[in-house]
Amino acid sequence: MAVKDDLRTPIVCVMGHVDHGKTSLLDNIRGSAVVSGEAGAITQHIGATEVPIGSIVEKCGNPGLLDQFVVPGLLFIDTPGHHAFTTLRSRGGALADLAVVIVDINEGFKPQTIESLHILKQHKTPFVVVANKIDKIHGWNPQKDSPFMASYNKQSEHVRTSLDNKFYEVIGELYNHGFSSDRYDRVADFQHNIGVIPISAITGEGIPDLLMVLLGLAQRFLESNLHYDATGPGVGTVLEVKEERGLGTTVDLILYDGTLKKGDTIVVGSLDEPIQTKVRAVLKPRVLSEINVEDKFKQVSKVTAAIGVKISAPNLDGALSGGSVRVATPETLETVVEEVRSEVEDVQIDTDQSGIAIKADTIGSLEALVNELKKEDIPIRKADVGDISNRDIVEVSAIEDPFHSVIVGFNVNILPDAKEKLQSTNVKLFMNDVIYRLIDDYKDWVKEQRA
Ligand code: GTP
Ligand code: MG
Repeated sequence: MAVKDDLRTPIVCVMGHVDHGKTSLLDNIRGSAVVSGEAGAITQHIGATEVPIGSIVEKCGNPGLLDQFVVPGLLFIDTPGHHAFTTLRSRGGALADLAVVIVDINEGFKPQTIESLHILKQHKTPFVVVANKIDKIHGWNPQKDSPFMASYNKQSEHVRTSLDNKFYEVIGELYNHGFSSDRYDRVADFQHNIGVIPISAITGEGIPDLLMVLLGLAQRFLESNLHYDATGPGVGTVLEVKEERGLGTTVDLILYDGTLKKGDTIVVGSLDEPIQTKVRAVLKPRVLSEINVEDKFKQVSKVTAAIGVKISAPNLDGALSGGSVRVATPETLETVVEEVRSEVEDVQIDTDQSGIAIKADTIGSLEALVNELKKEDIPIRKADVGDISNRDIVEVSAIEDPFHSVIVGFNVNILPDAKEKLQSTNVKLFMNDVIYRLIDDYKDWVKEQRA
């Protein structure tokens, strides 16, 4: 066996509660490559880190394994908080092929840990759990970049007991949320049992194990999903819409199929008509050693999936986070516009005659919120992406039913003028960055009002 050309890099989403170590984990994976000086090895993309298969087997101390794998590497996605997964949607589901749920072993489960698990279960996405920050266990004797078992065996008896206790709390919490799990080296069937890997994102302990388990999962469950046509038209998902000095409005996207070139005509999802525009520049971040260079990006003429890139193009202002970006030719333009339009409408139009209003930061998180509210039979009159505006308040304040004169905002802000307006109305506002908290708060409030 050897790496197959027609397989794209699997996309791995890193999820978990704030501060539990998502970014540190990727920093560690990247950093060690920089230290070892492998030219052109692990690269940083926009919103993503690409680890080629060669670097993974090397990091695992076993280059001989190289010919056992057919995937070209792993592309890790990390965005702040736990929203990468819901933002990264594609038609009919989630874009991420695999996920890593990170939990601080000393703190245990938090609301966003639980939410991450629910989302993964719903999408049937294979995942592993990492119990991070083992180096903070009292008395820990760090073994830089060592596989977990090698490090564990070097710890004193009471440190091992302390780790075991904390570790089994994580297993217990997983069980309470409906997942059977075990330490990864004891898991025979990763489809029925979640593997849990103790790691430290700071010392690198356990990271070789994590990479091996992910590769194993990718090989086992994904090969048939990863075939792609590198020469076909590019398809991607918008991670973020950003102003950049000198470039105007740009979009950061994950390209997951085909090729995207400078000069291509693209269609981008928007709440209004899909945007049609021409790619002015395809931009990659400069590598760490070039960080002092005046501009942060370098232009390339084309990119091939899977990869994270920034593009600049005219008229990107209304681009939708989580919306799609599709390359079109004069022949396909009409069909592609229709496709992009219906992708946005799929999420938007399915609302009721009367009900509450909801807002979320991306189309994917809006979709997740809609799904959860429907499960609870809470009717939705209007579902929209963006911060809560004055107009939202005015609109909702005109609704007579007090139980529907409500706005539920997921991971959004309220604009200053809207905040002021809110004071003079009877609109009830719920905001949170955890979906089930929002739903519980709404239900509790309804109960209170009815009592
Ligand atoms: P958000 O992006 O804000 O959601 O957080 P995050 O999950 O990306 O966490 P981040 O990697 O920024 O880590 C938060 C803090 O924990 C930082 O101060 C890290 O240095 C620290 N940290 C992360 N992993 C470890 C670890 O394994 N050991 C120790 N001792 N500290 C860690
Ligand atoms: Mg982070």
